[in-house]
Amino acid sequence: MTSPTLTPELQALAEAVARRRNFAIISHPDAGKTTLTEKLLLYGGAIQQAGAVKAKGEQRKVTSDWMELEKQRGISITSTVLQFDYAGSTINLLDTPGHQDFSEDTYRTLAAADNAVMLEDAAKGLEPQTRKLFEVCRMRQIPIFTFINKMDRPGREPLELIDEIEQELGLACWPVNWPIGSGERFRGVIDRRSHDVILFGRAERGKASEEQVLTVAGARESGAVEPELLDQALEELELLEGAGADLDLELVHGGQLSPVFFGSAMTNFGVRPFLDAFLELAQKPTPRASSTGLIDPVAPGFSGFVFKLQANMDPRHRDRVAFVRVCSGQFEKDMTVQHARTGRAIRLSRPQKLFGQDREVVEDAYPGDVIGLNNPGMFAIGDTIYTGSRLEYEGIPCFSPEIFAWLRNPNPSAFKSFRKGVNELREEGAVQILYDTDESKRDPILAAVGQLQLEVVQYRLENEYGVQTRLEPMGFSVARWVVGGWPALEAVGRIFNCKTVRDAWNRPVLLFKNDWNLNQLAEDHPELELSTVAPVVSGVEPISL
Ligand code: G4P
Repeated sequence: MTSPTLTPELQALAEAVARRRNFAIISHPDAGKTTLTEKLLLYGGAIQQAGAVKAKGEQRKVTSDWMELEKQRGISITSTVLQFDYAGSTINLLDTPGHQDFSEDTYRTLAAADNAVMLEDAAKGLEPQTRKLFEVCRMRQIPIFTFINKMDRPGREPLELIDEIEQELGLACWPVNWPIGSGERFRGVIDRRSHDVILFGRAERGKASEEQVLTVAGARESGAVEPELLDQALEELELLEGAGADLDLELVHGGQLSPVFFGSAMTNFGVRPFLDAFLELAQKPTPRASSTGLIDPVAPGFSGFVFKLQANMDPRHRDRVAFVRVCSGQFEKDMTVQHARTGRAIRLSRPQKLFGQDREVVEDAYPGDVIGLNNPGMFAIGDTIYTGSRLEYEGIPCFSPEIFAWLRNPNPSAFKSFRKGVNELREEGAVQILYDTDESKRDPILAAVGQLQLEVVQYRLENEYGVQTRLEPMGFSVARWVVGGWPALEAVGRIFNCKTVRDAWNRPVLLFKNDWNLNQLAEDHPELELSTVAPVVSGVEPISL
């Protein structure tokens, strides 16, 4: 790839960008994300043996023991991004934490991803957490690749699984390969474009499986696959062809058409064909919207944004790591960048690249990569850093919380520390803070997407700020922002079966016990426009406690 208009530096940058693919896996717990991740890393030669990604058994034990929690957070710190090379590409796999630590971080990570892999268990199909994460991907219109896993176990009919995605998510599907048999008789897949029959042999745990690529006729002759299984797969493929749609890359990249793959992560069936097709079809780092228009990744100036902050649980030195998604230009160690929100210049002297349990200092990074910066309290979620002319990326929205609790401070003399802690943890994005509309009720309301967020806040308030708090659950499970703000809310008059609160930007948020109450309000007042995510604000400081 050469372009006469690019300087040698930009040419090198363009090549680095063209080589990069980044993605996050969205799935419900137990669909096989850890297993698939391990297998992918195996292909990248990044780990020698499956089982190295995380100590699963250990993680399972974690419930409420805080020492264990620390350990667990240690794991999620270090496995935030996994980078590996495969077939001439550099792949960044952004980790979305699993169920025990499902939190807003899970959503925010998707803001840094260019592609998502939706992983389904063939026996279960679409599950709740996958649907939620899918909604976030849809909002960002990122390409979604579907991997239907556990084909080695009895599962639902492939056509039915595809239909469910199309009907329930409104996402058109384009199976790139089709399974031959399932359960005990899962033999392999047929590549829809080449009509190659890819047969897999079971391999030793942790090794790439033995793979045989044959023509349909060759597969028949070989006797390696039962003729009736092959015929059924071919028939179903014909049905799909009859449906007529093309694999339109533009639709894929717009998040409207999902390439679908079948396989079994555990037995390593179908992982290699998936990875190869993913590299071919996935979106490389794309231009991003900013205050000065779309920013091309191949631009002379470096820029990026913070999508996640991770605080160390060690109260003695509160080091925090800010995770930055590189959006344009080349990042170099010791570079001085501008911090858009404060206008300050910052020298980035100890940037880190994180892999598994290891951290290494990065010398350089390119668009699509993620770097970890030591953050002595200056970065907030959504902050932009850049060199050259000023720009600011669109912030990261607040996602709809589902768990709400009053945070009580039983000891009035500790109020100062309580306030400091609550404000700092909010800034860090550990939890969302809502306030009662009655200003005499000063206690904040914690609003989270995962229970662990609340536990972490309480734990950190005690350990880092010395305040013991009490959580008083509120019986709500749904929050909606009022799109027209206070005037729109006042216009509809009195409303029932919901509580109005304020967010940190003094915007009205309605809390409902359940979807039924929400639907009731929508029926009574169709003119009231509600949103599951808060509009992004920039340049305005939030209310502090
Ligand atoms: P998660 O990260 O999405 O939560 O899922 P994880 O990979 O931990 O997989 C959950 C369980 O599903 C594991 O079993 C794993 O071995 C199994 N699994 C993953 N992929 C496949 C597959 O393709 N086929 C089959 N049959 N099983 C699969 P476990 O018993 O909970 O753990 P382990 O004892 O295997 O470690």
